[in-house]
Amino acid sequence: MTYLITGGMGCIGAWVLKHLLERNARVVNFDLSEDRHRLDWLMSRDKQVAITFVQGDLTDFEQVKVALQHHDITHVIHLAALQVPMCKANPVLGAQVNVTGTTNIFEAARQTGISHVVYASSIAVYGTAEDYPPGLLAEDALMLPQTLYGVYKVANEGTARIYWQDHGISSTVLRPYTVYGVGRDQGLTSEPTKVMAAAAQGQDYAITFGGRMQFHFASDVARQFIHAADHPLAGARGFNLGTPAVAVQTVADLLMQLRPGVTITVADKPLPFPEAADPAPLHNAFDSIYETPLVDGITETLAHFESLNG
Ligand SMILES: NC(=O)c1ccc[n+]([C@@H]2O[C@H](COP(=O)([O-])OP(=O)(O)OC[C@H]3O[C@@H](n4cnc5c(N)ncnc54)[C@H](O)[C@@H]3O)[C@@H](O)[C@H]2O)c1
Repeated sequence: MTYLITGGMGCIGAWVLKHLLERNARVVNFDLSEDRHRLDWLMSRDKQVAITFVQGDLTDFEQVKVALQHHDITHVIHLAALQVPMCKANPVLGAQVNVTGTTNIFEAARQTGISHVVYASSIAVYGTAEDYPPGLLAEDALMLPQTLYGVYKVANEGTARIYWQDHGISSTVLRPYTVYGVGRDQGLTSEPTKVMAAAAQGQDYAITFGGRMQFHFASDVARQFIHAADHPLAGARGFNLGTPAVAVQTVADLLMQLRPGVTITVADKPLPFPEAADPAPLHNAFDSIYETPLVDGITETLAHFESLNG
C-alpha cells in the first residue's frame, strides 16, 4: 500500500504524514511547496527521510497523473487547497487549485486504476446558522456557501458524485470545521491555534470572531482521513465531523485557566457557518472515530508549542 497525500506540507497533511509514518506506511507527499516548517514541528528530519517528496502543481494534470503512476499509489488522501482568504484574494487561482485540482485528482485516479479517493471539503459548503432550523445541522442540509471557497468545495462534491456515477470511482469526503493544533497557522479559522501559540509564550491575544463552532484537533482529523482511506465505502459519501458546538469564548476561558496571566479577548462577530453538524452519519459509517476532548487537545497543543519554544 502506498498513500499519496496532496498538501502534506499543510497542517492536516503534515499530521496525516506523521500518523502514517508511525505505522511504517509508504507515503508520497505531493505539494507545490517545499517549505517543511509544519513537518519539522511534528517530526525530526530523520523521520522525514521515509517520505517521498514530489514537488508538483495540482493544477497540472500531467504532474498529478505521473505522481500517481510512478509511485504505485494505492490510496489517495487529497488535501491540497487554497483556503478562504486566499480564494477571496485570488478567485481564479482558487478555482484552479481547488476545483480543477480536485478534478485532476479524480481523473488521474480513473486513468491509473485507483478506485477510491478521500478528500477534504469543509463546513463552508453550508450557509449561516440562521439558514437552518435550530439544533445540529442535518446530513442532507442544503448547501448554501457564503464564500467562493465554499462554492469551490460544493463543486468538488459534485465532481465526486459524477465520477462515481460515470466511472464507479468511489470517494469519501470529510468536512471539517475549525481545525486546531500545531501547524494550523493559516486560514480563516486558524486564530484559535494562533492564540494557543501566543498563550504558550505568555502573550495576550484578541480573537477577531466569536460565536459557537466545532473544534477538531488536527491529529484527530488526520486519523479520520486515514481511516476513511483504509475503509472505502461505496458511492460518493460526504461526512461532517463530530465534536460539540463550543463558544470561542470557552476556548479563551480554558486557555486563561491553563495559562493564568494571559489575557484573551473574543470579538462578537460569528463566522458565516452553522454552529455544529450532526455526527451520527459519520459515527454510523466508521468503526473508529477520533474526537479528543477539547481540553485535552488544547493542553496537548500548549505543551507541544512550549516544547517547540524550547
Ligand atoms: N484547517 C481547517 O480548519 C480546515 C477546515 C475545513 C476544511 N479544510 C480543508 O482541509 C484541507 C487541508 O487543510 P489545511 O489546513 O491542512 O491547509 P493548508 O493551507 O495548511 O495546506 C494546504 C497545502 O496545499 C498546498 N497547495 C496549495 N496549492 C497547491 C498546488 N497548486 N499544488 C499542490 N499543492 C498545493 C500548499 O502548499 C499547502 O501545503 C484543505 O482542502 C482545506 O480546504 C481545512
